[in-house]
Amino acid sequence: MPAKGLICAGGEATRLGELTRVANKHLLPVGSWPMIYYPLQLLQLAGIRDVLLVTGKGHAGQMIDLLGDGRLAPRGGGDPILELDLTYKVQTEPGGIAQVVGMARDFAAGAPLVVVLGDNIFEFAQEDALRDWAGSPDRARIFVKEVDDPENFGVVVYGEDGAVADIVEKAGVVDTRFETPPSSQAVVGLYCYPPDVFDVIAHLAPSTRGELEITDVNRHYALAGRLDASEVVGWWEDAGKHWAHLADIGRRIDETGANKRAAT
Ligand code: DAU
Repeated sequence: MPAKGLICAGGEATRLGELTRVANKHLLPVGSWPMIYYPLQLLQLAGIRDVLLVTGKGHAGQMIDLLGDGRLAPRGGGDPILELDLTYKVQTEPGGIAQVVGMARDFAAGAPLVVVLGDNIFEFAQEDALRDWAGSPDRARIFVKEVDDPENFGVVVYGEDGAVADIVEKAGVVDTRFETPPSSQAVVGLYCYPPDVFDVIAHLAPSTRGELEITDVNRHYALAGRLDASEVVGWWEDAGKHWAHLADIGRRIDETGANKRAAT
């Protein structure tokens, strides 16, 4: 069964201050596009057509106004920006990324799922690794990138055999087993799951911050020996960190492009 896609675009976006008082974070400009176009385009480049977009309660109408049914022609004509079949759901409280994935159970209807966080932007569309996963969708796959500020992310711990042994979410804050991050290999917001992910989520307990953590889902697959980790090709940005970052990422996209098809 072909994979389906999920975009997590709920949450509260408190870190962007005044910018998100009346605007949906995922609709803020990054370069010449609203932020949400980038993760949607990544799914399209992975060959996915059916996409569920989960948005928060505030400003959900703006999202539908912009994206409609998922077929998006550029203003002034030209090749379509998106040709997706979009379905929407509303997350009424920010209960965590794993809660959002759990909301996709009926939509997935037994298909494997590629999940992208609505504020994550990639230089390359990670096509090789996504194609590789699609060949064995009974396993889960995460993507990792070396970062300078691992305390802000989930990070991977590798075992002696080179496989992922553990994943630690915001060490000292969410995961109190560690005071500081045990590595600087951040787990980025692109995840691939087999159809049994919904059973895993059904058994999750909320974390210390009261959310269902995607890191706990990934740890489950790591401990079961069913998790692969791919190094992100090219740059990766979490555009939800700080308002000043939005302009920097826009410039970066202008210089190098985003969601490119192959490393050159
Ligand atoms: O960006 C990568 C990081 O994303 C990972 O390293 C972490 O393991 C993962 O927990 C996540 O951390 P963040 O603190 O950056 O997550 P944030 O709350 O900013 O949410 C990221 C996206 O997920 C955001 O675009 C909105 C969506 N989201 C988030 C929450 C908490 C939802 O749709 N619903 C939610 O309840």
